Amino acid sequence: MGHIVLNQITKRFGDVEVIPPLDLTIEDGEFTVFVGPSGCGKSTLLRLIAGLEDVSSGQIQIDGQDATEVPPAKRGLAMVFQSYALYPHMSVRKNIAFPLRMAKLEKAEQDKRVEQAAAVLNLTDYLDRRPGQLSGGQRQRVAIGRAIVREPAAFLFDEPLSNLDAALRVGMRLEISELHERLKTTMIYVTHDQVEAMTMADKIVVLKAGNIEQVGSPLDLYKAPRNLFVAGFIGSPKMNFITGAEAKKHDAQTIGIRPEHIAVSKEGGLWEGVIGVSEHLGSDTFFHVHQTGLADTITVRAGGEVNFHHGDRIFLTPRDDVLHRFDMQGLRIA
Ligand SMILES: Nc1ncnc2c1ncn2[C@@H]1O[C@H](COP(=O)(O)OP(=O)(O)O)[C@@H](O)[C@H]1O
Ligand SMILES: [Mg+2]
Repeated sequence: MGHIVLNQITKRFGDVEVIPPLDLTIEDGEFTVFVGPSGCGKSTLLRLIAGLEDVSSGQIQIDGQDATEVPPAKRGLAMVFQSYALYPHMSVRKNIAFPLRMAKLEKAEQDKRVEQAAAVLNLTDYLDRRPGQLSGGQRQRVAIGRAIVREPAAFLFDEPLSNLDAALRVGMRLEISELHERLKTTMIYVTHDQVEAMTMADKIVVLKAGNIEQVGSPLDLYKAPRNLFVAGFIGSPKMNFITGAEAKKHDAQTIGIRPEHIAVSKEGGLWEGVIGVSEHLGSDTFFHVHQTGLADTITVRAGGEVNFHHGDRIFLTPRDDVLHRFDMQGLRIA
């Protein structure tokens, strides 16, 4: 079980309200990602759920019980941090078993749970090593193992992959997703990286200055961002925003069009511009197009092998069916 309800919770540090009244429901078994820029309150929100911080007001329910005043160790949640916080002098086995030893679980049960967690995490061959003899990815798995053995109602991850290099991050991302598939336990995962959010989440919660800007599946957010902030935050490269006369044609203050929704041609198209910087990724090419009279730069995605060059005059045609419209307040027009 791991059904979590936040009911009008707030958090103040002194006079500063970091989390204004906030409501959120996390379903049992769901993989929820809190995403937003640095300082938006992701860690604070997670720590409130974990009980590592007290709420200033409001209520936290875990599996139907009021957990607002329940101390962290009794909430049945397990937190995995960015810094793995492993004990360097202990073997992997002892590190993983640590919370069970603290809870004075029977030795046989301890051994069983450690073996199971190690099997799930491919750590069986490393149980007698010390953390110093492991790679960064393996250490992260040990930290997760220590959480798994507690059989928590939910796992809470705070930017667990930020210390890893790019290739390892992609690998661990998949491992955590697979772990979720296998365990089917509620997971709440904090990241500032929208790609992690998009690739891992069942449900994304986009935060800005402690406010929930939107909650939805990755594709909900991609297809129908509720406002300009979400529109600009989700998707890479970023959505293009156009104001002025071109937006007025669509009865909007601002129109948004994603780079992958603009066709590029040598001649004959709706907008005209000049290619500035090109980014060749092999699979794709991103062109940064200037002098369109619409915005400083319009970014477009083309195929991997395209025959356009810096300084070329090109034509752009946006797909009307996936054009986003926003009003004066920056809110989506349905
Ligand atoms: N213990 C604290 N005392 C005072 N301010 C804090 C404390 N912890 C966090 N904050 C402030 O709360 C805001 C949100 O921080 P945090 O939750 O760490 O953001 P994020 O994890 O999204 O980067 C920031 O402005 C931060 O400075
Ligand atoms: Mg943080």
